[in-house]
Amino acid sequence: MIHYSDIGLVNPVQMFKKAYEEQYAVPAYNFVNLEQLQGILTACMNTRSPVILQVSKNVRNYVGKELVRHMVRGAVELVGSAIPVALNLDHGDSLELCKDCIEDGFSSVMIDGSALPYKQNVELTREVVHYAGPHGVCVEGELGVLSGVEEYLNHGRSLYTDPDLAADFISKTGVDCLAVSIGTSHGIHKLKNGPAGGDALRFDILEEIGRKLPGFPIVLHGSSSLPREYVAMLNRSGGDLSGVSGIPEEQLRRAVKGAVCKVNVASDGWLIMTAVIRKILTENPAVFDPRKYLGPARDELEKIYERKNRDLFGSAGKA
Ligand code: 13P
Repeated sequence: MIHYSDIGLVNPVQMFKKAYEEQYAVPAYNFVNLEQLQGILTACMNTRSPVILQVSKNVRNYVGKELVRHMVRGAVELVGSAIPVALNLDHGDSLELCKDCIEDGFSSVMIDGSALPYKQNVELTREVVHYAGPHGVCVEGELGVLSGVEEYLNHGRSLYTDPDLAADFISKTGVDCLAVSIGTSHGIHKLKNGPAGGDALRFDILEEIGRKLPGFPIVLHGSSSLPREYVAMLNRSGGDLSGVSGIPEEQLRRAVKGAVCKVNVASDGWLIMTAVIRKILTENPAVFDPRKYLGPARDELEKIYERKNRDLFGSAGKA
């Protein structure tokens, strides 16, 4: 058993309290490799932003759980006391997986029972909270279903979160934070699949949740903005992505002024790195040293995440 405090990680609940009061959100950036982790850390150190590092079950399998642990250990050593760092399991799908992560040094786990019938979601989430509590680990639940594709998740619909049910869910489960569905979706095609088919987030639902649950931290999944210039860069260099749409930046700025204390970003990281790598390899056919394309991709990610912390999430200077 490795406790997160031995690695130097923090429980994100302490980050959320300040974020709620000061009306910003803590970025939760997913990573799948070393260069992404470097880009995230440098961006957050340069902006003095707290950060939640995230890996999914699939990424933990892809990288290897020992390497994930040691990469994060190294990350904490690198940042020292400059910024607080948390490690969250993104979209945990079983009690066993959550237990394994808690025993492996994670300071936060998400149990995603949102596709289950309500009662089963409550039961599963409560079991995870029960296990995590004595270890001082944060638990994130989810209510409502996000549309879009994210790794093993593939929902073709979006069910908005019912604010009354959210209050009931929190009191029955004891979760520390809750992911809600207000129109964001995972992946690169956003705001299209909601029941209303609109192009805006449902701020009315978010405000209602905030009124019913004052002080309670809300999590916004599917928060990539997917800047057009990177889609264009990728497509100019032999890529073929169509119909890409992200969450407009002004909507993210507005969301973090409310109850949203954690914003999840993964797809931006995939898009930016791939676009830069494609461009470099297309323009420089003789390149074969991975540092020549992974390095610039990492630096670009760093630049964009710095901008997000400063201009979208308001987390810069809050470490
Ligand atoms: P994006 O696909 O918008 O980056 O969302 C990622 C996410 O919510 C991870 O849980």
